[in-house]
Amino acid sequence: MSAPNSSYDPVEVTPLHPEEVDRMRAEALAAITAANDLGELKEVRLAHAGDRSPLALANREIGALPPTARKEAGQRVGTARRDVSDALKRREADLEAERDARVLVEEAVDVTLPWDRTPRGGRHPVTTIADRMADIFVGMGFEVVEGPEIEAEWFNFDALNFLPDHPARAMQDTFYVADDEGGESGRLLRTHTSPVQVRALLDRELPVYVVAPGKTFRTDELDATHTPVFHQLEGLVVDRGITMAHLRGAMDAFVAGMFGAGLATRFRASYFPFTEPSGEVDMQCFVCRGASVGDPDAPCRTCSSEGWIELGGCGLVNPRVLRAAGVDPDVYSGWAFGVGVERTLMFSQGIADMRDMVEGDVRFTRAYGMEI
Ligand code: PHE
Repeated sequence: MSAPNSSYDPVEVTPLHPEEVDRMRAEALAAITAANDLGELKEVRLAHAGDRSPLALANREIGALPPTARKEAGQRVGTARRDVSDALKRREADLEAERDARVLVEEAVDVTLPWDRTPRGGRHPVTTIADRMADIFVGMGFEVVEGPEIEAEWFNFDALNFLPDHPARAMQDTFYVADDEGGESGRLLRTHTSPVQVRALLDRELPVYVVAPGKTFRTDELDATHTPVFHQLEGLVVDRGITMAHLRGAMDAFVAGMFGAGLATRFRASYFPFTEPSGEVDMQCFVCRGASVGDPDAPCRTCSSEGWIELGGCGLVNPRVLRAAGVDPDVYSGWAFGVGVERTLMFSQGIADMRDMVEGDVRFTRAYGMEI
């Protein structure tokens, strides 16, 4: 091992010349000032303060100096390196502050700007379920027909065999349309879709196989179980040799199409002026299938533990209606039914309050998917 060289002259070690150290320091400081962003500063740090930077290399030379020369050279290089590292720190802080200020401006979000994405919207579940109900009959060859919501009293009542003093004609059930002087106009907001039966018979050649979905109106206050505007689906068949058995078969097919196979239907005697005989058609509860009847431990909310759910009214078309529509009841017979659309949506989806369906709150509609 060789002893330190006492005659070694630090001035002769080029990297340690005071001017040389000053030059390295000045170059580093200039590069730091010139760095325009944090990326550039990173490269400057590597070049002027990294392990292979001129000042780091100069620092390594100090060990080779004679002890007397080490102190001064060490101080000179040390001061220069500290200056460089201080300048790096200051420049870094400045560039970070600059970047933060720029990001605040460039990435600012103006929350008051109008939204550029308009929701696509979707149809109301009352409309989509009415379509599904009608589709089952379309699948059996029926046509979908419509009639006016403002209807002639004759179609809504007279042609359907409501006698002039029938209670359903009373003002408390029916919205009558006044004429220009405020008197009777002979028109009303239809109270059911049954007037479409008469219109279909007058408009078409026989036989007739139609369903008529649409809005209906009654003077009820809006509450959990009533709404003055609601929807029905009417069905009408008039052909040769039509019997109750055809009606029953159609109701079975409807229930199977809406709720799946294997659910029984039943008819209960009822009365409508435009059908004879008339009935109410019930379907077996699609939730408990009758299991909740007489079992207090397993109550069913869908059918109130009755085992059956009422679908609507039905019957064979009254010959008087056929005659009013110009159809010979000795040759033709028919059946008809009327089902409430809101009621069907309510029991099929467990909706407890009618108002949810009419208020138009999109949060209700969205739960049914945004079908269009
Ligand atoms: N129109 C009746 C109602 O609104 C329902 C119905 C239609 C009954 C067709 C029999 C036949 O209650």
